[in-house]
Amino acid sequence: MSYNITELTKEYSMGELKVPALKGVTLELAQGEFIAVLGPSGSGKTTLLNILGGIDRPTSGKLIFDGVDLTGLKEKELTQFRRLNVGFIFQFYNLVPSLTAFENVELTARLTNPIKEARQKVKLLLTEVGLQDQMMKFPGQLSGGEQQRVSIARALAKNPKILLADEPTGSIDSITTGKILRLFQKINQDFDMIIVFVTHNVGISYLADRTIYLRDGQLFGTSSYDPLKEKEFWTQLTTPPVIDEI
Ligand SMILES: Nc1ncnc2c1ncn2[C@@H]1O[C@H](COP(=O)(O)OP(=O)(O)OP(=O)(O)O)[C@@H](O)[C@H]1O
Ligand SMILES: [Mg+2]
Repeated sequence: MSYNITELTKEYSMGELKVPALKGVTLELAQGEFIAVLGPSGSGKTTLLNILGGIDRPTSGKLIFDGVDLTGLKEKELTQFRRLNVGFIFQFYNLVPSLTAFENVELTARLTNPIKEARQKVKLLLTEVGLQDQMMKFPGQLSGGEQQRVSIARALAKNPKILLADEPTGSIDSITTGKILRLFQKINQDFDMIIVFVTHNVGISYLADRTIYLRDGQLFGTSSYDPLKEKEFWTQLTTPPVIDEI
C-alpha cells in the first residue's frame, strides 16, 4: 500500500476572489509511515488533510491511493472510499454528545462489522486506549484527553488504511498530550497504517518518521526521524517548567 500525491493544488472560490490554499504539493506516503505536517496557520495543513482523506477535492493534481485514482471517483464512490479506508481525528473530538463512549465507537465499528463482532471490537479498542472503565459515560462526562481517546478508538474501529489527525493534542494539557502521543506511537507499532499528524508543535513532530513543512501552500522542506530529538522532546514534556520564586 502506498499513497502517491502529485502536483496537488486547491483554490477556494470566495465570490470573485480565488484563494489558493495548495500550490503544487507532491508527496509519497509509504505503508506504516508516521508523518508529521508542520506549518504556520493558513499554510494549507487542514486543506491537505481533507483532500488526502477525500473530505474535499483538489482543484488539480493526482491522488493515487493503493492503485486507485481518487480524483476519478464519483461522489458516492469517494464517500465509500472514505468510509472504508480513512480514520479522522479532529482537534475538538467531534463525538456525538447524546451517545456514550461505547456507542460513539460502535457507530463506526458497525460500518464494517456485524453487530456482535462490532461490540467486541469496541470493547477491545476502548481498552487499547485505556478507557475500559469509562465506556458507558457520555462525552460531557469525560475530560478532553479522554474524549480524544474515544475519538482515536472510533477512528481505529474501521481498520483504516490511513489515519489523519488534525491538531489532535491542540486543546489538551501537556501531560495528557504525552499520553495521547504515546498512544499514537503504539498505534503506529500495532497497526500497519499510514498516519498523518498535523501539528503546530515542533517537538511533537520529532516523534514522526518524517516531517514535512508546509508554507504558503507549498512544501518547503522535509526532515527525518532523529532519536536524540525525540528524547529531548520527552524530557521537556515531563519536566515541569521552572517558576521564579517570589
Ligand atoms: N472553505 C474555505 N474557503 C475559502 N478559503 C479557505 C477555506 N478553507 C481554507 N481557506 C484558506 O486556505 C488557506 C489554507 O487554510 P488551512 O485551513 O488549510 O490552513 P491551516 O494550515 O490548517 O491553518 P491552521 O493552522 O490555522 O489550522 C488559508 O488561507 C485559508 O484562509
Ligand atoms: Mg488547520
